[in-house]
Amino acid sequence: MPTNRPLLIFAGAADRLRGVTQELWDAEAATFDDEPDHGLADPGTRSAWRRLLLEVLPPSPARVADLGCGTGTLTRLLTDEGYTVDGLDFSPEMIRRARRKVPEARFVVGDAANPHLDAEAYDAVLGRHVLWAMADPVEAFARWVNLLGASGTVVLVEGSWSTGAGLTAKDCERIVRTVRQDVRVRHLREPVYWGKEIHDERYIVISPR
Ligand SMILES: C[S@@+](CC[C@H](N)C(=O)[O-])C[C@H]1O[C@@H](n2cnc3c(N)ncnc32)[C@H](O)[C@@H]1O
Repeated sequence: MPTNRPLLIFAGAADRLRGVTQELWDAEAATFDDEPDHGLADPGTRSAWRRLLLEVLPPSPARVADLGCGTGTLTRLLTDEGYTVDGLDFSPEMIRRARRKVPEARFVVGDAANPHLDAEAYDAVLGRHVLWAMADPVEAFARWVNLLGASGTVVLVEGSWSTGAGLTAKDCERIVRTVRQDVRVRHLREPVYWGKEIHDERYIVISPR
């Protein structure tokens, strides 16, 4: 049908773009953990993230979907605390490293814009530095919420970084409020999370049910 043509062309372009982005993240994977907040190699940084996440997540052994899990650092941290974590990322290189880091977790190569994980099966959805990368964050976020059971919690860590990338806390809160009523934002200004002083906006959004 002639009316489908432009849509099909657009869908093809979107797939190609996704392929390019995926390759970019693949290329990042080898050095990704070098950043203090990515690899959490410093015991003080690791312990700050541990405290923060345990404070806002349902208690272990809850089931957590770690969307855009990267090299699996947060999956490792939570698995060590007794959580059952499934990680999803569209970068095969990130997932290869995550599987090595957390052999006991389940990892899926897939698109976080439409995560093919079990619906209504998780106690929490966790996404650190991922929602900002979604082409349609409102639509993606609605799908993330579908993964949660009746009492599920959403935990997002995002930022509006000095590089120009990211999401402001206001925009992120607006996205979460499209499907959730209880939304709390806490700014994360403390250098301990980042291994340095920061001058941009970094925050955690919690939406408990
Ligand atoms: C900044 S990294 C954060 C990694 C991890 N969440 C962390 O905090 O260490 C962003 C991750 O999101 C993944 N990503 C970006 N867009 C994605 C998409 N559409 N589907 C799945 N993963 C995606 C990238 O491959 C990358 O691993």
